[in-house]
Amino acid sequence: MIILGVDIGGSGIKGAPVDTEKGTMLSDRFRVPTPEGAEPAEVADVVAEVARNFDWKGPIGAGFPAVIQHGVAKTAANVHKSWIGTHAEELFSKSTGCPVRVLNDADAAGMAEMRFGAGRGRNGVVFIITIGTGLGTAVFTNGVLVPNTELGHIEMDGQDAEMQASDAARQRDNLKWAQWGKRFNRYLQRLDALFWPDVFILGGGASKKIDKFLEVLDVHAEIVPAELENEAGIVGAAIAAEALVTAQ
Ligand code: BGC
Repeated sequence: MIILGVDIGGSGIKGAPVDTEKGTMLSDRFRVPTPEGAEPAEVADVVAEVARNFDWKGPIGAGFPAVIQHGVAKTAANVHKSWIGTHAEELFSKSTGCPVRVLNDADAAGMAEMRFGAGRGRNGVVFIITIGTGLGTAVFTNGVLVPNTELGHIEMDGQDAEMQASDAARQRDNLKWAQWGKRFNRYLQRLDALFWPDVFILGGGASKKIDKFLEVLDVHAEIVPAELENEAGIVGAAIAAEALVTAQ
């Protein structure tokens, strides 16, 4: 199926048509900077701009950095608070004129890794962690997603883990990769002790530097880098929207 995948992030909104059987993008991704403040109406306009850029008339899948239950945003850790309670699917369907499926951004990246990347053929308990502005998590058991796990927000030293172990925290505190890696390791150890996953797949921007911190990570689970890098969010969002087509 050919579906437009859109990845809505804190700094950019990116999209490309995706062949969901092959897991490939059919053109370069089109990127628009996320509008200042990222309020719903403005983001919806940008999603429409992405669709227009590809002259798109078909189904769209969009990953969004919040809990998305039945199309409605329920949290807003790194986006404008007015998203809470906003029906993102209806909003984007209206702005684009296309059927839209919206899901959590880490869940989208996880779906792409499971089908086409580092999670391919993996059974058992698989955790995908996207390390960026936030810490996103996607949990799969025997290939089935448990949606909307918000494990970037577990408590660590009396604080939200994301405030210490995200890539934004590394930049904010001006840490070397190994220094940040030690913090991130404490975060992984918490998840490891609570959930005993078979494998952690590390994705997001920081995963490109995994060679600089892999050796300080010490958990029972296997650790592997994500394979789809930048494209996972777009490809996974498109995969999630396949259901729009099969439901017709
Ligand atoms: C949000 C998650 C999101 C993650 C990555 C967190 O702050 O709560 O919903 O998946 O950031 O963007």
